[in-house]
Amino acid sequence: MGLQRTNGLKQISGSGRDLVNTERLWKDLQELGKIGFAKGRGVTRLALSDADIAAKGWLTKRMKEAGLEVQMDAATNVIGRLKSSSRRDTRIVAVVSHLDTVPQGGMFDGALGVLAGLECARVLQENKIGLPWGLEIINFSDEEGSHNAGTIGSRAMMGKLSGNEIYRSIEKGIPTFAEDMKRLGKDPDRIAEAIRNPKIFRALLELHIEQGGLLEARGTDIGAVTGIVGIYRYIVNVLGKPDHAGTTPMSLRNDALVKAAPMITLLPQWVRARNPEMVGTIGQISVEPGATNVVPGKCMFIVELRSMKPQDMAAIRDLVAEWVGTHKGSAITTIFEKDSVELSKSVIDTIVRAAEIEGLSVIRMASGAGHDSQSFAPYVPTGMIFVPSRGGKSHCPEEWTDKQQAANGCRVLLRTILELAGEDSTR
Ligand code: GLV
Ligand code: MN
Ligand code: MN
Repeated sequence: MGLQRTNGLKQISGSGRDLVNTERLWKDLQELGKIGFAKGRGVTRLALSDADIAAKGWLTKRMKEAGLEVQMDAATNVIGRLKSSSRRDTRIVAVVSHLDTVPQGGMFDGALGVLAGLECARVLQENKIGLPWGLEIINFSDEEGSHNAGTIGSRAMMGKLSGNEIYRSIEKGIPTFAEDMKRLGKDPDRIAEAIRNPKIFRALLELHIEQGGLLEARGTDIGAVTGIVGIYRYIVNVLGKPDHAGTTPMSLRNDALVKAAPMITLLPQWVRARNPEMVGTIGQISVEPGATNVVPGKCMFIVELRSMKPQDMAAIRDLVAEWVGTHKGSAITTIFEKDSVELSKSVIDTIVRAAEIEGLSVIRMASGAGHDSQSFAPYVPTGMIFVPSRGGKSHCPEEWTDKQQAANGCRVLLRTILELAGEDSTR
């Protein structure tokens, strides 16, 4: 087994390779990956959809089987608690991520972090390893933003939901988070009951697939995440005039889509010129009334900007707003502006050490994807562990991480928990 426990947690030796059950973790990933899966279309588990609710139910069952106390909080987050007899500290280490996905996404984004947390809890219990604080595994609701802004569950816990965002959806026809909460018997007006004092958290840890190609290109096993990019998102509505597509001559049209079209090429030009490390995307666009034989009267698209530098995102936002200003009746509305965050230097050092103890190669790197960790990082010592993504692909059916790479991440997660426990026991 390779686990030797002498007189303190610092002395727990042996490798996570011996402790983590790679096959069990992989089986969980495969089973969960079937919920919302369609051949050729990957996994679709939009937050609080039937598939996501089924995934929450599946996780609750697995957590209970593993002996965890499970609860769904007022924001529909699923929380599994490990009972620890050796607890001396009232604080909690939370191991977190999410089970919702983008449309036609993959089976690893979010799922790996939650299931690796569950695997760590099992290993700790099987080996009777007590921790000084409580351990919680949390599946945060709506990380991906299928209703509106995303990271809803984690921001709800930190009391950082803005205004009435849960009562508004991003587009007509999409239910609001508040409406969908009722499917689980939760009262949206009581979502504030999910708020917890950040001081109760000793640390927050999230294992995640990289979703980019750096680790694979360098042949490195583990990324210790130093910071997470800022994300700014805006809805742009361009106004035209609906008309008959057969009888309205080209010279008399006021086609909203044609008016909006230049922005599709302008945005990437502006972003590239501003900062080669910045990205900007128009990933959602729709026209109204949306019929083959009607000239588009309205065009709606969403501009997303990501960078570590708020001033760069603000500069591009101002250019887009200026462009919108030149189109009569058109408007730009902010969905959110989330600034970049730095993760905890001390937790990053612990993750790097944990990877080295496990004999895995590790680099420090920034994250270009958004994560629930972002909601906690300003208030709680937060660390993220990345494992490679094949071809750097994610948010698509091709998203893949090998069994051994997934298990490597879980080993580093477990070792990080043990190292944190060791650090606290020597204080
Ligand atoms: C979430 O995965 C995001 O980066 O948008
Ligand atoms: Mn994602
Ligand atoms: Mn994710």
